[in-house]
Parts: sequence; structure tokens; C-alpha cells
Amino acid sequence: MKATPTVFNRQVSKKIAVVGLGYVGLAAAVSFAEYGHCVSCMDIDTEKIECLKKCSSPFYEPGLADLLRSNTSRLSYTSDIKDACINAEIIFLAVQTPELPDGSADLTYLYEAATNIRAVLKKTCILVVKSTVPVGTCDQLASLFDDDIEVVSNPEFLAQGRAVYDMLHPARIVIGTVNEPTRTCLHELYSPFGAPIVWMDRRTAELTKYACNDFLALKLSYINEIANLCERFETNIELVTEAMGLDSRIGHHFLKAGIGYGGSCFSKDTKALYRMANDYGYELRTVHSAIEVNEYQKKLLIHKIKKYYANLCGKRIAVLGLAFKPETDDLREAASIACLPFLMDAGATAVVYDPKCAENVQRLFPSVFIEKSSEDALIDADIALIFTEWREICNITPEVFIQRMRHPIILDGRNCYDIETMRNHKLIYDSVGRPVTGCLKINEKAEKKENE
Ligand code: UDX
Repeated sequence: MKATPTVFNRQVSKKIAVVGLGYVGLAAAVSFAEYGHCVSCMDIDTEKIECLKKCSSPFYEPGLADLLRSNTSRLSYTSDIKDACINAEIIFLAVQTPELPDGSADLTYLYEAATNIRAVLKKTCILVVKSTVPVGTCDQLASLFDDDIEVVSNPEFLAQGRAVYDMLHPARIVIGTVNEPTRTCLHELYSPFGAPIVWMDRRTAELTKYACNDFLALKLSYINEIANLCERFETNIELVTEAMGLDSRIGHHFLKAGIGYGGSCFSKDTKALYRMANDYGYELRTVHSAIEVNEYQKKLLIHKIKKYYANLCGKRIAVLGLAFKPETDDLREAASIACLPFLMDAGATAVVYDPKCAENVQRLFPSVFIEKSSEDALIDADIALIFTEWREICNITPEVFIQRMRHPIILDGRNCYDIETMRNHKLIYDSVGRPVTGCLKINEKAEKKENE
């Protein structure tokens, strides 16, 4: 996947500040720099700033390190909001808006950043909110500023693991402003990206972001339920979705059944929109169901493991993949994180492998055993649980499972393997929405070994 734009359409350079350097903020910063703008990057996390000053990426995101290096002359880093914003024509706010216990979005970081910006701004400026925020937040922010600061909503639709690519090649750009000069300035900034720009008011832009994420979450929960049904009917979800997706009204995207959605966005944004609707006296029943289905789905492998072992005490469990999806080291809302405590509480030994998440998981669960490869994690395992479809995990051959494991029972939460290939080998292969292969014979063998 090539992140860099193929057509370089350099234009008059703008002075931009980006406040909040997570996936969204940093991807935006390097992309604007790539288009020739000077970008001052600000974050309160001084470790992150030191890391960036050394031209190194503070988290794993494909393409990011390359663009940080190739744009050093246009990128600067600081923890000082005044330094970052004092000369900026456009300030992007990309701070996190995490979930509060009641499901609503925590706007503390956003208001803190906005208040600090207000204290240092001396000139006319556009303040663009990229963070996902409840409807009406930008209007409230606008009331904090004088008329010479125009507040705009410009939600971001990039996905982790392809954040830089998505930022450089967006499907559409949504901009919430009704102010003409602001519109002209942002049109100049974004037109080289070559995507349709949908102009609207701030509140509509804020809602559009939730509507998109929640629709995708809904689509996933729906297909995961159909997959659960396929297991009961002994039919194959992949054939069902192949046929469904060919209907252009449905499409193939977000139809891959599995152990539910994870990541920082879907979980938080479904709950936030549900909560927001409730505040306006409306019960958003579809979104509520999507949330409930996903909670069940994230624990699917735990529900299934009971088919194979009534008692997990002393069992060695290989856990392959931890990240909420491939190409990221992010564990937020990952199914693996929902399941690991159950395994440990049940007295099992969890031996985990993930190409990028080792450090992050060790911080969360100091007692898990981390191996350097899938092959090592599989040694003497009584069962293997697959949580992430990393390419190297998808490349494991049936022979490796058979040779390494004590009992070759594989619970695949991401449908990594061809079912016919697995059927031809002496192992139990239990995936999502597809018939179980090799079940009885091997299971009997496993039980027999168990009793010896
Ligand atoms: C998502 C949106 O895609 C993005 O537009 C928004 O800006 C932020 O939230 P992200 O959370 O990075 O991006 O990941 P995404 O690729 O959407 O996947 C979310 C979860 O759904 C992952 O756990 C993934 O494994 C799962 N998923 C996705 C499926 O289970 N099946 C699919 O077909 C697609």
C-alpha cells in the first residue's frame, strides 16, 4: 500500500498547527507537510514530542515513519501550545475524546486545549475540530472565542493501520462551516487531495461522523449474528457474504465475520451516539443491539473453548494475535483483552504471540508468557486461539499446528485458513460461521490423551 500521493500538487504553503498527536493528528500533520505546508505539531505528552524530534514514530503505523523523515524541514514539534499556535492560520484539534463511564464522550482534553489556545491566540485563525465530538460541541467551542476565530467541524474517517494512506487518499472530505472565507481557505487546503468535499453546517458534520462509524459497527454486528446462525445450520458464512456483497446496494466491505469489532472508535462512538440520542429523548435501538451483539461476539472464543475443555486449569493455551486488527499495535477494545483475564482466572497458562503488541500486553498483564513467534507459542499447547489475522499468522501451515501442539485444536476468530485445507488434516478447526472440521475424531483423541 503506497501512502505517498502520486501527483504532487504543491500550492501556496499555509502555516498549520496540529494539537494532539495520536493516529488522526499525526497522520494529518504528515499529510499536510507532504503537500508542502509548514506544520507545527503539539502534544502535552513530552515523551512523544522527544520521540518525534528524533524523527521516530511514537507508535506503529505503516508509512508514518517514512513521511516523518521525508518532511523534516516542514514539521516541527513542541509541548508548548503558544509555540505551536501563535503563527498558525489553521489550527487542527485532534485530541482524544475517550468514553466516560456513562458512555458519553469525555471532552475534557478538547476544552482544555481550546481554552489554552484562546489564551495565546493573537490573530484571526481557523480552528478545525478533527476529534470525534457530540453534536453541538463545535457550536459550544465557538462561543468561547471571539468572532475572528472561526470554528469548523472536519471529522476524520481514517482507519488505523492505514491512517496515512486514508488521510492522503480520502473517499470524501466532510467540512462543517457556513463561513465563506473559511470555506475558500479550506477548499485551497483540501482540493489537492482529489476527493469530493461535502460542505455542511457544523452540527451535521459532527453527526455524520457518528452515523458512518455506527453504521459500519451495525453492519458488522449483523453479519456476526448471521455467522453465529451459520454455525448452528452448519452452513458457510463466507459463501453467504460473497453472494450478499455482489449486490451493489450491500457491497463486500465490513462483511467479514469474526470476533467482533475492537479499536478505539466503534465501541466508543456507538455508545456515545446511543447516549446522545437518549439525551434527546430518543432510543437508538439498532445501535444498542449492535453494542450488545459485539459484547457477546468478543467473547466468542471463550464460549467455544468450553466445547473442548470443561476445565481449563493447567491447560496451556496458545494465543496468536492480540491487536484489535492487523497492522497496528493498538490493544484498545481488542477481543484478546476481553478474553485473557478469563483464561488466567480459570487457571490456564496463556502463552501469547503478536508481532507488534508484546510490550503493550505485558504492561496490561504482567503474568502472561510472551513468545517471539507463533511457532514457539504453539509448543505443547492444548488449544490455540486466534484473535488477529496478521499475515504471518495466516501463513501458519496445518503441519505446524500438528507438529507443535499437544492437542491440535484451533479456535480461529478471524477465519484465517482455508476450510478445505484444514479439513484434510488431523486437527480440530473451529472458525467463525463455518462448519467445524475434524471435530469428533480428534476430540476423542484429545480426551483419551487427557485421561492417560
Ligand atoms: C474505524 C473506521 O473504519 C474509521 O473510518 C474511523 O475513522 C475510525 O474507526 P478503525 O477502528 O481503525 O477505523 O478500524 P477498522 O478497520 O474500521 O476495523 C474496526 C474493527 O472491525 C476491527 O476490530 C476489525 O477487525 C473489525 N472488522 C472490520 C471486522 O471484524 N470485519 C470487517 O469486515 C471489517
